Amino acid sequence: MRDLVRDGSSHLTTVIDAGTLGAMQLGQHAPASRTVVHISDTHLLAANTPLGGQYDTLGNLERLLARVERTGTADAIVFTGDLTDLGEADAYASLRSAVSPVAQRMGAEVVWVAGNHDERAPMRAGLLGGPADESPITSVTDVGGLRIVAIDSTVPGWHHGEIGAEQCAWLEEVLAEPAPLGTILAMHHPPLPSHVPLFDILELRDQGALAEAVRGTDVRAILAGHLHYSLAGTFAGIPTFVASASCYTMDVSLPGQRVNGMDAGQSFHLIHVYDDQITSTTVPVASSEVGEYFSPAWYAAMAAMTPDERLDAFSRKR
Ligand SMILES: [Fe+2]
Ligand SMILES: [Fe+2]
Repeated sequence: MRDLVRDGSSHLTTVIDAGTLGAMQLGQHAPASRTVVHISDTHLLAANTPLGGQYDTLGNLERLLARVERTGTADAIVFTGDLTDLGEADAYASLRSAVSPVAQRMGAEVVWVAGNHDERAPMRAGLLGGPADESPITSVTDVGGLRIVAIDSTVPGWHHGEIGAEQCAWLEEVLAEPAPLGTILAMHHPPLPSHVPLFDILELRDQGALAEAVRGTDVRAILAGHLHYSLAGTFAGIPTFVASASCYTMDVSLPGQRVNGMDAGQSFHLIHVYDDQITSTTVPVASSEVGEYFSPAWYAAMAAMTPDERLDAFSRKR
């Protein structure tokens, strides 16, 4: 639950999240009204078999989730596909066991998106509790007026992506009615170019039709995965964010045609939804000791000042 608290000076608006440090406004932007955690490409295998003989996908996910939980509360956690590597029931069960308690403690809804490594029937049975059929996995989730629409860009039996006319028509129908805080569209294959040529073969096809479906609607951001590296761009004028992977990432410090996987650089994104803007913060899993200069006491002191006093105390160069 969030409560809006205003102090007597009207300079300060504080949003308090129960059980966490409160979000605080010390500048011109009011705090984000919604927070969405964006995680992608977990690629779990049954019995936690190492992926490619070398990547501990469950261990890497658990390390990532521990970092996610440190961020506090969230309204939703969106997983943009390739949840498992082979679509095994046991892998979906492991994923659910790892994620559910974290989501519950954070007060977050979980949105599952299908990726090319997933299989629709076991994914439905293992994560969605629905009938194990082969139709595209789509969903509409409302988080306090923010609508998260998941579409299925997978093509059964293939690794490239496609939305298809039927799903585009469904999307247009859903988007015909705007949501109070707008819509975030989640999918696996990003509707963006990649400078790594291998992804051209595995690209999302029919991007023109998707552009037609989202143009002029209340879609404020698109979230995707598939690339195993973080990427931002625009699609039909809409900010589009690709989260890297939790399992292994692509070493994009190499020339495009030499890019390969590495067991490093894993990250997740924090999507902050403001009144007029949406941002995506990339959060690395790797960490080291941090200082304690910016403490709750420091913020309390700043919050007690007028804006001019704050500028003088923290912005003035000595
Ligand atoms: Fe993947
Ligand atoms: Fe993928």
